[in-house]
Amino acid sequence: MKELLMTLSRKEKIGQMLQIAPFFFVKDLKVEVAGPVEALNLDEEKIFLAGSVLGIGNPNEMIEVQQKYLEKSRHKIPMLFMADIIHGYKTIFPVPIAMASSFSPKLAQACARVSALEASTSGIHVTFSPMADLSRDPRWGRVVEGFGEDPLLIGDMSAAMVKGYIGEGYDKPGTIASCVKHFAAYGAAEAGRDYNTVDMSRLSLYSTYLPSYLRALEAGARLVMTSFNTVDGVPCTVNPFLLREVLRGRWGSNAVTISDYDSLKQILAHGVAENMKEVAYRGVTGGLDIEMQSAAYANHLETLIEEGRVEEHLLDEAVLRILELKKDLGLFEDPYRGASSELADKIVLSEAHLAASLEVAKESAVLLENDGILPFNKETKIALIGPYATERNIIGPWHWHGCWNCHEHLAEALVDQTIFVKSDPSVESYSHADVQKILAADIVVLALGEKEWESGEAHSKSNPTLSKEQKELFSWIRRIHPKVVTLLFNGRPFILDDIVTSNALLECWFLGSMSSQAIRSILLGETNPSGKLPMSFPRNVGQIPIYYNHLNTGRPYLGEHDHNEYVSKYLDVKNTPQYPFGYGKSYSEFVYENLQVSKKVFSPTDILQVTVDVTNHSDRDGQEIVQLYLYDKVGRISRPVQELKRYTKVWIHGQEKKTIAFQLSEKDFSYVMPDGSTVLDSGEFVLYVGGSSNHTIETTITLKGTRA
Ligand code: NOJ
Repeated sequence: MKELLMTLSRKEKIGQMLQIAPFFFVKDLKVEVAGPVEALNLDEEKIFLAGSVLGIGNPNEMIEVQQKYLEKSRHKIPMLFMADIIHGYKTIFPVPIAMASSFSPKLAQACARVSALEASTSGIHVTFSPMADLSRDPRWGRVVEGFGEDPLLIGDMSAAMVKGYIGEGYDKPGTIASCVKHFAAYGAAEAGRDYNTVDMSRLSLYSTYLPSYLRALEAGARLVMTSFNTVDGVPCTVNPFLLREVLRGRWGSNAVTISDYDSLKQILAHGVAENMKEVAYRGVTGGLDIEMQSAAYANHLETLIEEGRVEEHLLDEAVLRILELKKDLGLFEDPYRGASSELADKIVLSEAHLAASLEVAKESAVLLENDGILPFNKETKIALIGPYATERNIIGPWHWHGCWNCHEHLAEALVDQTIFVKSDPSVESYSHADVQKILAADIVVLALGEKEWESGEAHSKSNPTLSKEQKELFSWIRRIHPKVVTLLFNGRPFILDDIVTSNALLECWFLGSMSSQAIRSILLGETNPSGKLPMSFPRNVGQIPIYYNHLNTGRPYLGEHDHNEYVSKYLDVKNTPQYPFGYGKSYSEFVYENLQVSKKVFSPTDILQVTVDVTNHSDRDGQEIVQLYLYDKVGRISRPVQELKRYTKVWIHGQEKKTIAFQLSEKDFSYVMPDGSTVLDSGEFVLYVGGSSNHTIETTITLKGTRA
């Protein structure tokens, strides 16, 4: 690609660094001049030099745009087509936070594989996924797009998605490249308000927030999208510490960097540049290759180079990365790579793809409460009440191409059991006759939550909870009927208050195209729920941020019997969350015992074998997510009270006992320092194992000798 690069004019190179929307090409430019074209201040020449396009919708559109573009292109360098395929193209899978609840990277990979097969038929080459942002704040609307609060789980899920998109390699059909986002620490927006400032220690960055982006890159992500926020006061889009020191230096990555939508220009609002020329300067020197939907580079880079303020090699390096990506995707051989409406008709929304989505959905719901009321059987008569009883749009935000009204709603899926349906949340709307019908039902199933659009980008909430009306509906039903099953549809952990007194409570999130079938299958016991929470559920807003892998403090609160006044606690609420990370019930009952470690005293070169017996004390077969956590009691710096190190999902038949084995090695006992280096200390570690971060059994082991 170097030879090709040498033949490009400066203008052509700068063009490669511009990404714009497809409507710049497909509509009559004269019509558009009043709108976005004018806003970006791009003339036709610059538009037809753009290196990539975002947000194409279908094969015909893609082919038309690429054709038009190539007709005018001197070098016939095809454009790259990028889009947001977040949890499926047309076959929609559970939202990422739900998928994370499956604790199954294998399922995430399957989701990404189907997404790539479908999306590539529309000529999409790159998806803006996965979102590897860690978040401890359910107020932030975008937690729905991520995998929760734990670095290991997020890293595993992100890496699996990347692998699923790539499939067996770009030379094979049905594959797309992945752009990991949003680099970096976007999920730590202050007060959970989207786009807000991020102020974080280097320790948190290196140890907690950065590792999952790296995992996605190691798995093969070819692009990195910068985030809207600042880190150390510098907008991430132009942040040389992140884009040069960490990404290129520390990680040795050659991934293409791309801004978020308009985020390069937004450094004006951040107040770190006073005009678009300075914006371009900060972008290119900061390490940004592609500018999405703003035009600082297109309009100012040339002058900056002519003036000698920007060296041409910065441009060359960025453009070379972009050209290499195009080459690796095979665009020079076939600029229309994959785009085919015939193929789309054959495979998109196929039975096999919907079946794959159903499988993931069944494993993504989390049973939070159950006093034995679930599962019910086919003879059980239910009253199905609440706004989500007949809501079709429960496939989740970011479904973009997905068809939310093509699938059954709950009342349709549960038609054989349902003797009364009403979606009105207002208690006043229920007549005397309604009440009689509700009382005639064996069980009331309440379908509550937030609309799918209430989570996602720019949809932060100061109080993530149910509406007042829905809470009143719950209280009223609770009073008049003894058996209440609550289903929750939401894109973030909720503060649940009295809802936790439901006889059963199922966190459904948004489960994609097959939501209703998956929920039906769980309610009827055809599926035994196995999901676990990837994020803690706070008791109230004041507890936020609340997360399982926190530090101990110098005055830790030791629990109910601790009567010391001067300890780290609240006067008005417990320290513990309502539901902790890793928590989730099953229709089976799993008991943990006999935790064994091959060596109680070990050295850095040892590989430790850890085994634990898990018995299913019920007659029902079920899956359990067995989790192993470590606590490093004494380090050079204070260490988290526990960190997830291993997990595995196992089928255990009714009354069966299984011995689960894990291996641990030096890396698991090492940790990151504020300067990003990794160290290992001798001393005691507590090893916890259980079905939640609120685990059941533990043992202490000792590391003798150290390397670092
Ligand atoms: C803005 C969002 O922050 C990002 O996640 C998305 O990929 C881009 N827009 C492109 O649609």
